[in-house]
Amino acid sequence: MTDLIAALSEAVSAAFAASGLPAQHGRVTASDRPDLADFQCNGALAAAKAVGRNPREIATEVVGRLAGDPLFSSVEIAGPGFINLRVGDAALVRRTGEIAADPSAGLPPVAAPRRVLVDYGGPNVAKPMHVGHLRASIIGESLKRLYRRRGDTVLGDAHFGDWGFQMGLLIVAAGDEDPRWRAVAEQTAPDQDAEALATLDLATLDRLYPMAAARAKDDAEYRDRARLATAELQGGKPGYLALWRRFTEVSQVALARDFHALGIDFDLWKGESTVDPLIAPMIEDLKAKDLLAEDQGAVILRVSRQGDRRELPPLLVISSAGSAMYGTTDLATVLDRKDSFDPHLVLYCVDQRQADHFEIVFRAAYLAGYAAEGSLEHIGFGTMNGTDGKPFKTRAGGVLKLQDLIGMTTEKARERLHEAGLGEAFPPEEFEEIARKVAVAALKFADLQNFRGTSYVFDLDRFMSFEGKTGPYLLYQAVRIKSLLRKAAETDPSAGSVGEGAFVIGEAAERDLALLLDAFDHAVCEAYDKRAPHFIAEHAYRLAQGFSKFYAACPVLTAPDDATRASRLTLSATTLRQLDIALELLGIETPERM
Ligand code: ARG
Repeated sequence: MTDLIAALSEAVSAAFAASGLPAQHGRVTASDRPDLADFQCNGALAAAKAVGRNPREIATEVVGRLAGDPLFSSVEIAGPGFINLRVGDAALVRRTGEIAADPSAGLPPVAAPRRVLVDYGGPNVAKPMHVGHLRASIIGESLKRLYRRRGDTVLGDAHFGDWGFQMGLLIVAAGDEDPRWRAVAEQTAPDQDAEALATLDLATLDRLYPMAAARAKDDAEYRDRARLATAELQGGKPGYLALWRRFTEVSQVALARDFHALGIDFDLWKGESTVDPLIAPMIEDLKAKDLLAEDQGAVILRVSRQGDRRELPPLLVISSAGSAMYGTTDLATVLDRKDSFDPHLVLYCVDQRQADHFEIVFRAAYLAGYAAEGSLEHIGFGTMNGTDGKPFKTRAGGVLKLQDLIGMTTEKARERLHEAGLGEAFPPEEFEEIARKVAVAALKFADLQNFRGTSYVFDLDRFMSFEGKTGPYLLYQAVRIKSLLRKAAETDPSAGSVGEGAFVIGEAAERDLALLLDAFDHAVCEAYDKRAPHFIAEHAYRLAQGFSKFYAACPVLTAPDDATRASRLTLSATTLRQLDIALELLGIETPERM
């Protein structure tokens, strides 16, 4: 099954080749002017340059060769030698039939499936999540779904931040706060550990961490105690480990709950701590490979290369206080993943501000032979900003808490649903479920509709509108199709399936919708190759708009004859399936009705 771009490219390339010109110039793209053509080929201009001929002359020759090919309903030259193409009806009907018969609505599988690991989310124990984590979670979840859908074997790993300096800070803060927790830390009464630990809850962590982090900023002695505690924890001090285990459990339960509310789920909750046992042997190995150097009491690995435009700092492997660092655990994680999964590709979905960190870690991994050159990729992204242009903060000026964001967004969704008179007649639990789905759609679509590198402004009013390029608009359109199909099924249970070749594509809006269905393949491949879900978001939006125009122009239930009615119902059902899949790839669920 190939899409129309591929079929047309093949025909036009053959025409170039038959004229003695390089076939690659026959590449066809979607038209810049959909009012004039479905597709276009600009190759005559490049071919003319390459062989020193007149582009219009080449275009005329190619067009001559395409005349009479039933794949096209028209082939025309425009301007200096552009070729404008319209698809023939029979080809469009055939292609629409293929998509309608395909359970994945025209989404192509990859030719050679790979093992892909997506490292995303990256929440930290006790530290509040910030907008970087939110975007990492939304984008990473989408990439994970996209790769999996296309047939790769994919694992998503939260790469929990559970091993650094913040753990030392928390140990010190907890010990200072409560003698029972200090007793756990020092193991002076190990029989009472369980009881004491049970009182250490999420609220405590939320309170202790910001306090400790603030104090460490200007209290050098406090900072040193936390550093020492970090090193002792990593050295395996039993009481510290007991406290640490409790911190991570409490945090993870809360985080998992919030992630689930957003439709985000990890296959692995491995953390920085997971790879601790690998670090000592790794350092031996790096030493043996002569990659390590001493630098002011610390151990480093130099990664700069000749020809670098600016000097990259080395990887800090062991700090002067004797601790493994963020980069050390990342390097050991490369090894751990190689041993456990042997991925062909690892996508690190992390804030663009960590670009250097990943460049350093990747280079170190390649130098050490822990990963194949090019198999590690940083998928960076911009920030979600407040109206002040700085990374989004809550009204109180604090960093955003996921739970609060979900609460605030769901409240706005309820409000909007009421204003629009939607879902009010339904049972309250169903209304709540709809509000939750609308909220998630609003948040995720607002994020994923932009190329990930772009920063955007958090504007809940705009995100939550049922009009325009928003998640709620897409849900509304999907639900409209569902209700149309339900109505049709009441009178005719077989509605929504016509045989291949039986489509009636007469009206312009029908034709446009069929062309949009065909374009899914291309959008998905772009998103996959460029690791950029916005291509799918854009497609979903255009498809929803295309359906809306079609529905306004072409009566479905009251179509002029049975064949047209059946054809339109199948077009609607296929549109819905494709829209559902596109939304699923964005991590968005659609309600049955609203
Ligand atoms: N926990 C880190 C942070 O909050 C993000 C982790 C990203 N993944 C990784 N393999 N380093 O900045």
